[in-house]
Amino acid sequence: MTRRYYAGADFRRALSIEELRRVAQNRLPRFEMEYLEGGAEDEVSLKRNRSIFERITWLPRMLVGTGLPDLSREVLGDSLHLPLIIAPTGFNGMVWPQGDLALAKAADTAGIAFTLSTVSNYDVVALNPQLQRPAWFQLYPLKDQKTSDRLIERAQAAGCDKLVVTVDVPALGAREWDQRSYSRPLKLSPSSVLDVLLHPRWLWQVMLPNGAPEFSNLTEFLPAGARSALQGVRFMGTQINPTLAWADIERMRGRWKGKLVLKGILCVEDAKRSVEVGADGIVLSNHGGRQLDSCATGIELVGQCAAEVGDRLSIIVDGGFRRGSDVLKAVALGADAVMLGRAALYGLAAGGEAGVAHALSLLRVEMERAMTLLGCHTLDELGPHLIRA
Ligand SMILES: Cc1cc2nc3c(=O)[nH]c(=O)nc-3n(C[C@H](O)[C@H](O)[C@H](O)COP(=O)(O)O)c2cc1C
Repeated sequence: MTRRYYAGADFRRALSIEELRRVAQNRLPRFEMEYLEGGAEDEVSLKRNRSIFERITWLPRMLVGTGLPDLSREVLGDSLHLPLIIAPTGFNGMVWPQGDLALAKAADTAGIAFTLSTVSNYDVVALNPQLQRPAWFQLYPLKDQKTSDRLIERAQAAGCDKLVVTVDVPALGAREWDQRSYSRPLKLSPSSVLDVLLHPRWLWQVMLPNGAPEFSNLTEFLPAGARSALQGVRFMGTQINPTLAWADIERMRGRWKGKLVLKGILCVEDAKRSVEVGADGIVLSNHGGRQLDSCATGIELVGQCAAEVGDRLSIIVDGGFRRGSDVLKAVALGADAVMLGRAALYGLAAGGEAGVAHALSLLRVEMERAMTLLGCHTLDELGPHLIRA
């Protein structure tokens, strides 16, 4: 029997995140889908982010009569309806017009938090007044410290109270599959251009109105007349900081008044160091398999980090979460919450804000069902006793 996922244009027909991915694949040109999907080098980290979930299996409890589950949780002072935060992802305006705003609004409506990337296409100052809960702001610590400081000041002035500092990019991962879409840096290959022409819906919606969207939070650092997306990418290329060290984080801690979260931690020693420098949270993450290849995946570190430092900072994890039960596994192992990267982006690509809302609703329903099947009423009742690792 041949089984086929739905891969048409109507995102409402998608029954799972995997199916939303097919709808997204149908709408986006190949080079854009590759940017979204791809990992570094041989994509071993990327594959591990998914395969790990098959090795973490449940030992459910029967006959406990739980009733409708409560999925709410407080994370770093935010009361969330679900233990979810949308991860920072750059260049969302290439996926959907004003993609960052669409993601943020869908998150707000679902009662979860949204993280705006340094390389987003929407200005944090303009975004927050449109939301009930201010966005979390993600900072790439740049080589030029003054620019980093200014980004921190802007986020603070915009009303953000969570700064997520990404610490796993002291060099850019080699995303070779992404590079294959180009004949030289930033120049699409002829076959990629042809493929773009075969996606008129995307071309019409995203590119034709104003061309590639600018990096709105970086505008003031680029010379007037040189603020295009291309110039922004070049600027960021010059700002990767291979000398980034703990002392830089201590400095930032001194400047930032709100909660500080370090994203990209992948060992217990660094989790302990995060406590020492005054971080309020960590994101156990391998950057969606896009940085160092062949490394551990966040969820493998959750149990140990929760045992060592879980009482002193919030533990967030990301990488490969595509099902409600994936999220519950992380919570059962000791995570406070999960960040969603591609799961939300597939929704965005498939249907803008309504597509993201659909993705979040699929995950919510899956979580509710799995909680009932596990015999749990609240997230606090999840624990390692339910897991056969
Ligand atoms: C298209 C794309 C862009 C990303 N951009 C950023 C970014 O700007 N800043 C950052 O800290 N992480 C970035 N990430 C990593 C995500 O924040 C997150 O760690 C990762 O996507 C989680 O894995 P998942 O996509 O399997 O959920 C990006 C990931 C993707 C897929």
